[in-house]
Amino acid sequence: MTTRAVVVGASGYAGSELCRWILDHPSLSLAGVCSRQHAGQPLGAIVPALAGVTDLRFEPIAESVLGAADLVFLALPHGAAAEVVPLARRSRILDLSADHRLDPAWTYGLVDWTGPELASASRVAVPGCFATAILLSIAPFCAADQINGPVCVAAATGSTGAGASPVGATHHPERFANFKAYKVLGHQHGAEIAAALGRLGRAPTVHFVPQSAPLDRGIFATTFVPVADADAAPGLVAEAYARSPLVRLRTESPEVRHVRGSAFADLAIATAPGMAVVLAAIDNLGKGAATQAIQCANRMIGLADDTGLRRAAATP
Ligand SMILES: NC(=O)c1ccc[n+]([C@@H]2O[C@H](COP(=O)([O-])OP(=O)(O)OC[C@H]3O[C@@H](n4cnc5c(N)ncnc54)[C@H](OP(=O)(O)O)[C@@H]3O)[C@@H](O)[C@H]2O)c1
Repeated sequence: MTTRAVVVGASGYAGSELCRWILDHPSLSLAGVCSRQHAGQPLGAIVPALAGVTDLRFEPIAESVLGAADLVFLALPHGAAAEVVPLARRSRILDLSADHRLDPAWTYGLVDWTGPELASASRVAVPGCFATAILLSIAPFCAADQINGPVCVAAATGSTGAGASPVGATHHPERFANFKAYKVLGHQHGAEIAAALGRLGRAPTVHFVPQSAPLDRGIFATTFVPVADADAAPGLVAEAYARSPLVRLRTESPEVRHVRGSAFADLAIATAPGMAVVLAAIDNLGKGAATQAIQCANRMIGLADDTGLRRAAATP
């Protein structure tokens, strides 16, 4: 028996990526896709990569459509997602926006660090893309209470992180062949990171510098974690992810092209006395959005985390 999934916002980057993965999933069926402006049109006409893969047509965002689903994925801008929740109240909801990540009534779906509560959750807030890469890097040390000072992070993202609607700062000529920082020490994921670490243990201060990289997909995070016992750090990270099928530990630097279009998070660790440096690469639309949501859904319906998600990136 399959679980019926509906994706709201399927014309966007995160929503269309959800559709790509759900259409290939052995236990989920894509029962519907919703849009404000494309109702009646084929999904493949608006997302050409999905043409020939599905005959589904967009439907309006209506209670009759959402109520027929077992799982409703909300891939909508912040604010818009919260407005749709009442229309999906009879279904289990996974919200990819920031609307519910700080709401204690919702389960925070950082799946590798979430306990059995995910299995029975009916409201899941899927973590942000930067937050995912950074939390995967810091969490092993926080949970083991091994951090003894402020953590510093520089993390670069590709342009799809800003969504499909063009705005000046994400315009191709502004991003192509360029590299810069933005929202220095003031990114909105800071509060989300602090809250998630607080649930794991004694949350350190985290200084975060986001950067814009000339990539379409991918996040690369470099995280400096002050630790008392640096020699123990690699073992701590390896133990933390021993049962995480979609977290791979690398001996060399992770590379965004090795996770591009995949569900994997690649981590590597280097140490110096008093310091652990964690390097992390994820696809912002994969582990940073759609595939983390599907990993949560797998837990919610009693499947192994990596069901339908163990697929290699296409390289080079
Ligand atoms: N992009 C990423 O890497 C990423 C990573 C993690 C989380 N997220 C989160 O996922 C959500 C979707 O992001 P995205 O990058 O996919 O954005 P996007 O490409 O702009 O797509 C969002 C979709 O939502 C629909 N929409 C826009 N405004 C709406 C409104 N006021 N009411 C209802 N529907 C509306 C649009 O579809 P129609 O016009 O067809 O209705 C649009 O295609 C955001 O909350 C974002 O923060 C994104």
